[in-house]
Amino acid sequence: MQQYEQLLKANKAWADRMVEQDPNFFESLVEVQRPAFLWIGCADSRVPPNEITGTRPGDIFIHRNVANLVIHTDMNMLSVLQYAVEVLEVKHVIVCGHYGCGGVKAAMSRHSYGLINKWLRHIKDIYRLHVDELAGIQTEEARLNRLIELNIIEQVNNLADTSIVQRAWKGRNGPHLHGWVYDLHNGIINPLIDIAANTPLEHEIYEYDDLDVQH
Ligand code: CO
Repeated sequence: MQQYEQLLKANKAWADRMVEQDPNFFESLVEVQRPAFLWIGCADSRVPPNEITGTRPGDIFIHRNVANLVIHTDMNMLSVLQYAVEVLEVKHVIVCGHYGCGGVKAAMSRHSYGLINKWLRHIKDIYRLHVDELAGIQTEEARLNRLIELNIIEQVNNLADTSIVQRAWKGRNGPHLHGWVYDLHNGIINPLIDIAANTPLEHEIYEYDDLDVQH
């Protein structure tokens, strides 16, 4: 059997198992999705959101990219965010990164990786913002792991700085923003930061006074 055929075979077995446990399982999800969470995570194959959080189809709206970045000109991420926040009205937005992140590691190096340099450049900027703290860290692994944490915290602040989130905060006092880091060594997620609705932003320059203007 080809490697890809194994996926299709496993899928059939999974679907059978789900129906066995709950004959109505798929039908109950067909009409509408009401996830309470938006997950913005790393594309890394070792950090599958549903599996590591014990959640099921219908529970989490998911966006993944290299190194879980929230870039304010990324129309893909912004479209997911807008739909999740304004239409699905998710209660929580979670940015989940992970220790040992290859994207952050590549950004910390001086090696050129081609097109992805453009994407990783955002992480180099975060390194520069925190160079005093990072330069004082002795081992490269510890420095990488700290940059991974700082990157997650930065991305959560980036969420708060969007007009999408600010408008929702004023309108419905949500969503609550979270920054989590997953440890590949033991499978545990540790919370790093959370920002409740209407918390003052990291800097007033990001605040919009006239949010009735659309996007
Ligand atoms: Co990663």
